Amino acid sequence: MNQKTKEAYDIQYECIDKIKLLADEWSMQAGRPIVANVTTFGCQMNARDSEKLRGILNKAGFQDTENEDDADIVIYNTCTVRDNANQHVFGRLGHLNGVKRNKKDMIIGLCGCMMQEPHIVEKVKKSYPFVDLIFGTHNLYAFPELLLKVLTDRKRVIDVRDRTEVFPEHLPVVRKYPFKSGVNIMYGCNNFCTYCIVPYVRGREVSRTPEEILAEVKRLADDGVIEVMLLGQNVNSYGKTLEHPMSFAELLLRVCEVPGIERVRFMTSHPKDLSDELIEAMAKNEKICPHLHLPVQAGSSRLLKRMNRHYDREHYMELVRKLRERMPDISLTTDIIVGFPGETEEDFEETLSLVREVGYDSAFTFIYSKRTGTPAAGYPDQVPDKVAHERLTKLLAEVKERAEERCARFTGQTMDVLVEELNREPGLVTGRTPHNIVVHLPGDETMIGKIIPVKLVRCLGFYYIGEPA
Ligand code: 5AD
Ligand code: SF4
Repeated sequence: MNQKTKEAYDIQYECIDKIKLLADEWSMQAGRPIVANVTTFGCQMNARDSEKLRGILNKAGFQDTENEDDADIVIYNTCTVRDNANQHVFGRLGHLNGVKRNKKDMIIGLCGCMMQEPHIVEKVKKSYPFVDLIFGTHNLYAFPELLLKVLTDRKRVIDVRDRTEVFPEHLPVVRKYPFKSGVNIMYGCNNFCTYCIVPYVRGREVSRTPEEILAEVKRLADDGVIEVMLLGQNVNSYGKTLEHPMSFAELLLRVCEVPGIERVRFMTSHPKDLSDELIEAMAKNEKICPHLHLPVQAGSSRLLKRMNRHYDREHYMELVRKLRERMPDISLTTDIIVGFPGETEEDFEETLSLVREVGYDSAFTFIYSKRTGTPAAGYPDQVPDKVAHERLTKLLAEVKERAEERCARFTGQTMDVLVEELNREPGLVTGRTPHNIVVHLPGDETMIGKIIPVKLVRCLGFYYIGEPA
């Protein structure tokens, strides 16, 4: 940590201590614990950021609650990748307004990707006066300082930056699962796919140094973590801009060597940067899970070019061929957009045929959402909503059919399952195989966080019923 970063963190930790005094006072007056809720919208990066927000609130003396209606402090960590995520936030804010009317001390904060868009901040300022705190993705580390300001001044605080000066890596964290954790290996994105807002809200790509990442993984392993998920918008381009460049494959192998780490996953891979070296590393190292999330977005090379994806259908299919050649039973998952501007019926048919050819284990499917400021928002040939919805329905059916066939391929085999939680059904627990397939099996809480061999007895669509082997 350099001197400037250290000073920035010293201030944050001092603020946490000061908040704690205020929280204790608040709690005495109220005659009950003061509770906070952090709600996450969006991707794994946001989920990891929320663990830090929760860590700070917890250290400052607030109890955690899942129910925002019960909370004295509510923080929405927002996503703006598609418009429906935005609408969802505004809908829930309307509801919170009603809750706050009966609880005048309640504090409502907004952060995350949506707040990096000036027109959103303007809208909140104008139409949601009950929001007390707004900050963005670039100054997450300063949450203690900003919250303290709200608590002491009881005035609205807005602080959104356009560049990250201090990365949120040394904050207290409350992990959702004690035995697994995300680890940010890089921030931002340089790809500028024409539909995507991420490069505008998260800024340019920056890789953390391997030393910092490995130190964090070691700390996690010492704290009981056995599975890590390395996170970045485009992990395949990890390390290119470091002073001493390192490939993503090299980093993965180094992470596997950390004592105590049993499983390593990563997200998200861009097909344009997926190297043979990475395929080899995955094939050779047992700790790297045989699952690759490889967003294709569309099956038509013409559309891929308009999306600025820097690969065509042939290149993608060649990657799939290489992956399957080295790892025949690898799980492949993807993201697909339908209704991108200019998508013809023929283009869409190509997406359907690609899904059929690849045979994904699962796919996230989205209707194209116009994002202000991106090139595609200005394309003249937007696809009518009705057509996009019809295409989505067809695509979902195709994905489902192939995914069900794929999932059944492990029937009768015994696989290592990391048990993650109790199932809603009494007497059952739920876990995941290295291929990221969900398995329900008889068991109890003593099994949570352990990797055990499980016979995959019956496949029910996308998951298995198993029994300890
Ligand atoms: N509209 C629809 N889907 C989008 N995604 C990103 N931007 C948009 C958009 N404007 C999808 C992509 C990406 C995933 C995280 O979200 O499929 O891989
Ligand atoms: Fe994650 Fe992108 Fe959504 Fe931000 S906009 S939360 S980076 S998916």
